[in-house]
Amino acid sequence: MATKVVIGAQWGDEGKGKIIDILAQQSDVVVRSQGGNNAGHTVEANGEQYKLHLIPSGILNPQTLCIIGNGVVVDPGVLLEELDMLQSRGISTDNLRIDARAHVIMPYHRELDGLSEIARGKADIGTTKKGIGPAYMDKAERSGIRMCDLMNRELFIEKARINVKIKNEIIEKIYGGTALNADSMIEEYLGYADRLKKYVADTTVMLYEAIKSGKNVLFEGAQGTLLDLDLGTYPYVTSSHPTSGGVCIGSGIGPTMIDECIGVVKAYTTRVGKGPFPTELNDEIGEAIREKGHEYGTTTGRARRCGWFDAVIVKYAVRTSGLTSIVVNKIDTLGDIGKLKICVGYKKGNEIITEFPPSLEELALCEPVYEEMDGWTGNIGHIRDYKDLPENAKKYIERIEELCDVKVSMIGIGPGRDQNIIKY
Ligand code: GDP
Ligand code: IMO
Ligand code: MG
Repeated sequence: MATKVVIGAQWGDEGKGKIIDILAQQSDVVVRSQGGNNAGHTVEANGEQYKLHLIPSGILNPQTLCIIGNGVVVDPGVLLEELDMLQSRGISTDNLRIDARAHVIMPYHRELDGLSEIARGKADIGTTKKGIGPAYMDKAERSGIRMCDLMNRELFIEKARINVKIKNEIIEKIYGGTALNADSMIEEYLGYADRLKKYVADTTVMLYEAIKSGKNVLFEGAQGTLLDLDLGTYPYVTSSHPTSGGVCIGSGIGPTMIDECIGVVKAYTTRVGKGPFPTELNDEIGEAIREKGHEYGTTTGRARRCGWFDAVIVKYAVRTSGLTSIVVNKIDTLGDIGKLKICVGYKKGNEIITEFPPSLEELALCEPVYEEMDGWTGNIGHIRDYKDLPENAKKYIERIEELCDVKVSMIGIGPGRDQNIIKY
């Protein structure tokens, strides 16, 4: 099996958590390399549901080493809550390690996330308000606080004081907000440091050794391709790199150490937050998909915007991440919907384009071109063999393969660990 990267190939929430949990059963190591607790990964195993935001979804397998890589931004309070939640449910967290280089989300990051969204007014991004963007801003600006700093009491106090002073100026003078108290923040975070110390390590060494000795390593993507800071629908994106390239920098490995890149998609498309969404359905079909697919955010509870499968964006993900296969989740949600549509290209003036455009202005000129396909009826959640799927569901999957220029390796027919069909 060696090293596999699993990424979201749409706008996030494709069901990555479920796929990681399944693949983790044959993995020695599972690694998160970007994002933070803006992610919400749902795993349903042994009749229980787990919602994970920071801890890799491999944690349910007691023998799997779980790494929070250097590219992740860590909110220590949220991480401790997640550790407590797992421990209280009998899940061991002894195998968790956090890279010493990972940046820490501070209370002023959360505050600034909220205030900058308000200041943007109608042009807001619709962030999760978890402080992700401001934490990555500080990292790029070189004023961030890393896990290794948090573990060093004197250094942490010094850095935190300098940062709080500057951030309070911005909070009060630019945004008209209320200044934060440095002393209580420092005390709170030093308490977190005590509890997290045992998990902090140089995970780049652990990972190198695991890969060198032939262990099976799985990289768990968060968010999705169209939310990538460089390749997504900028500025309606997150502040990290959810594409496969982000894995190398975010976990300290080289591209030659990756064997497979798997993209996860839904059989339709969803998006949380603002920004363009060419195949969005603002009608009763979109509503039916939302209700049947329980399309409400794992992290914020917001209703997810729903629309038809867009082959243009998935083909874009195949190209920009070098995907070797895709997993199509939630095909069960499309049963009993009636006729189905797949977006096969965009009409731009008199032209039909099939490559996702770089600018939102160009995208605004595009109308989706649909191909209609017959749907199917009945519950398919019990099926385990590809050949037993309704003929029209198989045609739908095979059309996705053709349009996106990639093989479908697995099909999700329900949220459970066992509700998957291996296609090849
Ligand atoms: P992630 O962020 O990519 O891990 O995805 P989320 O957990 O945010 O959202 C995916 C949702 O779909 C979760 O509630 C999963 O339990 C659920 N899910 C995953 N795969 C399937 C599937 O094949 N069928 C159905 N009905 N639900 C699924
Ligand atoms: P998972 O890993 C879906 C979206 C937010 C917003 C934009 C920027 O569960 O697939 P941020 O708080 O990151 O600055 O918000 O990105 N977003 C996600 N949408 N799934 C996610 O993660 C997301 N993480 C961030 O809704 O539009
Ligand atoms: Mg999610």
